[in-house]
Amino acid sequence: MNSINPACLNRVASVIGLGKLGSPIAACLAHKGYRVHGVDVAPAVIDAVNEGRAPVFEPGLDVMINNNKSRLTAGNSIREAILLSDISFIVVATPSEEMGGFSLKYVKAVCEEVAQAIREKSGWHLVVLASTVMPGATQGEVVPILQEVSGKKCGVDFGLCYSPEFIALGTVLHDYLNPDFALIGESDKKAGDVLESVYMQVCDNKPRVARMNFINAELAKLSVNTFVTTKISFSNTLARVCENLHGANVDVVSEALGLDTRIGNKYLKGAVGYGGPCFPRDTIAFAALARSVGVSPELAEATDRVNQAQVSILTELVSRKIPKNGRVAVLGLSYKPNTNVTEESQGVMLAQRLSELGRKVSVFDPKAMENAQKKLGGKVAYSSSLEDSISSSDVIVIMTPWEQFAQISPDAVSREGNRRVLIDAWRILDPHSFSKACDYIGLGMNSRDLGCPD
Ligand SMILES: NC(=O)c1ccc[n+]([C@@H]2O[C@H](COP(=O)([O-])OP(=O)(O)OC[C@H]3O[C@@H](n4cnc5c(N)ncnc54)[C@H](O)[C@@H]3O)[C@@H](O)[C@H]2O)c1
Repeated sequence: MNSINPACLNRVASVIGLGKLGSPIAACLAHKGYRVHGVDVAPAVIDAVNEGRAPVFEPGLDVMINNNKSRLTAGNSIREAILLSDISFIVVATPSEEMGGFSLKYVKAVCEEVAQAIREKSGWHLVVLASTVMPGATQGEVVPILQEVSGKKCGVDFGLCYSPEFIALGTVLHDYLNPDFALIGESDKKAGDVLESVYMQVCDNKPRVARMNFINAELAKLSVNTFVTTKISFSNTLARVCENLHGANVDVVSEALGLDTRIGNKYLKGAVGYGGPCFPRDTIAFAALARSVGVSPELAEATDRVNQAQVSILTELVSRKIPKNGRVAVLGLSYKPNTNVTEESQGVMLAQRLSELGRKVSVFDPKAMENAQKKLGGKVAYSSSLEDSISSSDVIVIMTPWEQFAQISPDAVSREGNRRVLIDAWRILDPHSFSKACDYIGLGMNSRDLGCPD
């Protein structure tokens, strides 16, 4: 990664909300030379940043914050942050509501304080909303608060941009510094120009920039994620079809699909369902939005239904394979590798379903044991190591493609007497060597082709 950009030196930014997305944004801005003032309501988060530590687990974040601690401070005063800086990123949570939309309660509370500080400021200020919001929210709810409380005009006295990020946890720093594109919804040309220049200074890859009004940017954010989840659900359906067709292999079919430029090769793996803090809720929000304007939500709803079915299909498969009184090891509880986040994790859901069916379940994850424990409680056994988890089990399911799991050897799973069943959801192990050591089932492949009994 390139480091300081001279164009960023002596510029001051503030970041309000230093969680999974906000703290990496603050770190990246400081890494490029900005002086950054972060704001959070959680004292532990503020202390971590001021001590040069990452407030959340994200690969590389600890080092980046520590290396740039002379330019990165944190506190609890939004007023101070606005007065110190000329651009502020709002990155607080927007929790999902029952009907599928997103709550603006934290965004509104922050905007009131931001606007009070803008009222006091003589110069122009740019507010950038990076939290995911529902279409219509920026113009309909955020602008009125900022204008009424500040007594100033949006697009004239201060600028506002809606600019959500398309990062994946586990690779946030790389994704933030090398986005496919930057999405900017802008109140006016000046606001968009200033934010575009920030992205050009900070991003290593000089990304393409899509500039538009607020509503189109809000729609684009939900649409990108819903399109990707549609692709994942299609790919998972294809994988299930392959499992039931002699000679079929989802990797071979997907490779061909990916060669078609109308489709592209990303997110075509065909494995388990999607999870995490964005994909499931953005898809549901898209459906809610369509419904609210009288458009059929069935495509997004079907995507969600297919996703929810994946864990049921796996639960059934494990139930068929597990011997009476046998034990299943679920390997992988984070929703993807290189993060400890377990929101909507398929591994956690599988462990939960199997334990509810009275199965003996043990779980292991390199990073997410603590978060998984908050959800699974005493329903499952927590293995202290990968070896421990494998040796005490009859059925093993690899649910997250952590690098550590790709290093499992055939010897580690083979045993005298009854062969173990190994379900490799992401096909990270070699089917031929593992099918000599155990009953290997790669999802998306026909297991009869490998000699594995039904
Ligand atoms: N995490 C992701 O992968 C991701 C990706 C794209 C978009 N987003 C969006 O970004 C937003 C933030 O997500 P996140 O995952 O970083 O959330 P998070 O819960 O990890 O972090 C939010 C932070 O805001 C702080 N906060 C709450 N109220 C505050 C206030 N009044 N003043 C200052 N700080 C306050 C919290 O203490 C917390 O540290 C959400 O809208 C989310 O949808 C997240």
